[in-house]
Amino acid sequence: MSAVVESSRGEDLVLPRRMRGLQPTLIRQFFERALPDSINFGLGEPDLPTPEFLKVEAARITIEEQNGYTSHPGLPALRDKIGEQYPHLELPRTGVVVTCGSQEAMTDAFMCVVDAGDEVLLPDPSFPAYDACTRIAQGEPVYYRMPASEDFAFDIDDFKAKITSKTKLAVVISPSNPTGKILTEQNHRDIAEALDGTGIWLISDEIYSDLYFGKRPRSASEFYERTIIVSGLSKSLSMTGWRLGWAACKNPEMINAIQVLHGFTTVCTSTISQKAALLGWSEEAETAKQHARDVYRRRGEFLVDLFKTEMGLHATAPEGAFYTMLDVSSLGDDIEVAEKCLQNRVVTVPGIAFGQEAKGFLRISFCNTEERMAEGVRRMKEALL
Ligand SMILES: Cc1ncc(COP(=O)(O)O)c(C=O)c1O
Repeated sequence: MSAVVESSRGEDLVLPRRMRGLQPTLIRQFFERALPDSINFGLGEPDLPTPEFLKVEAARITIEEQNGYTSHPGLPALRDKIGEQYPHLELPRTGVVVTCGSQEAMTDAFMCVVDAGDEVLLPDPSFPAYDACTRIAQGEPVYYRMPASEDFAFDIDDFKAKITSKTKLAVVISPSNPTGKILTEQNHRDIAEALDGTGIWLISDEIYSDLYFGKRPRSASEFYERTIIVSGLSKSLSMTGWRLGWAACKNPEMINAIQVLHGFTTVCTSTISQKAALLGWSEEAETAKQHARDVYRRRGEFLVDLFKTEMGLHATAPEGAFYTMLDVSSLGDDIEVAEKCLQNRVVTVPGIAFGQEAKGFLRISFCNTEERMAEGVRRMKEALL
């Protein structure tokens, strides 16, 4: 892809190598073209309201308190609360850096691990930001398959086959965006065994770890020590715009590097968000998380069933997060199918946005009421069948 773009003044702008080929994701490209009054099965953004007690607390903090910078890695009390999420790591406070959403933690972690030419193992399909972060760090993405034919379950043989002497980092996500699948304990053990002694780092994206519909997902950090956890409160407490996330890691040099980079990129996360987030593990917060789990579980079951009964299509059974993968391979190319849906006022994301393995699928997010989802399926049926 050409990295030379014409600037508005007619000069050639040559972007640095780390920026070349970076494009907005297909997720955004479809969303931006939505017609008025579209049903949104596209974005991974909770529609449940942010819990009232958090809003009230943030308003109080804004009005009553002076909110200057915090220390770069965040409020000590908040870092302690986050550290307590991972008792198996026995993290000191310095093992946690509070970031502007888990996205910043992820980008920081990639930049602190990956050097030019290093290979990075990414799940196929997966969240497109991993590919972008790999390229920004000038690494080479290498994909391991989560085979569609196995309902996107983890495949240890393919994972192992993709490890080379150049592999520097691997990424796992559980529950998964885009598949809603959760890694089993055996998957984690297999990954740890495959990586043991290689020196390869593991980024564990745990942003959906509080949204599960069966057993609570395990953290990769329980099984493999060179793990960097990236997580946050965006999804479980409907706080996407509050930009509250974190990186946590047992290795002091690694987390220190992340802290230094974080200081230079954002200085600190919003102080108001950090102070309010101290309530993120209170009894009220745990009730809100349980409510979100119940709502998304019910909606997932409702939607998968509707696709089957109304359209005769198979969608994966979600185990967590708020996504299902709808198999539209019998109806044609996934980009064309998504385009037809878009024209009939339903936003979906073609599977190819997440990797080759998801070709022939649409990622459907169920951040909608049952009534809106039923109307969405009705419009899809009208457009496709
Ligand atoms: C898999 C995954 N990781 C990370 C993020 C980033 O979330 P945030 O930066 O709001 O914590 C998202 C958001 O959609 C996501 O789906």
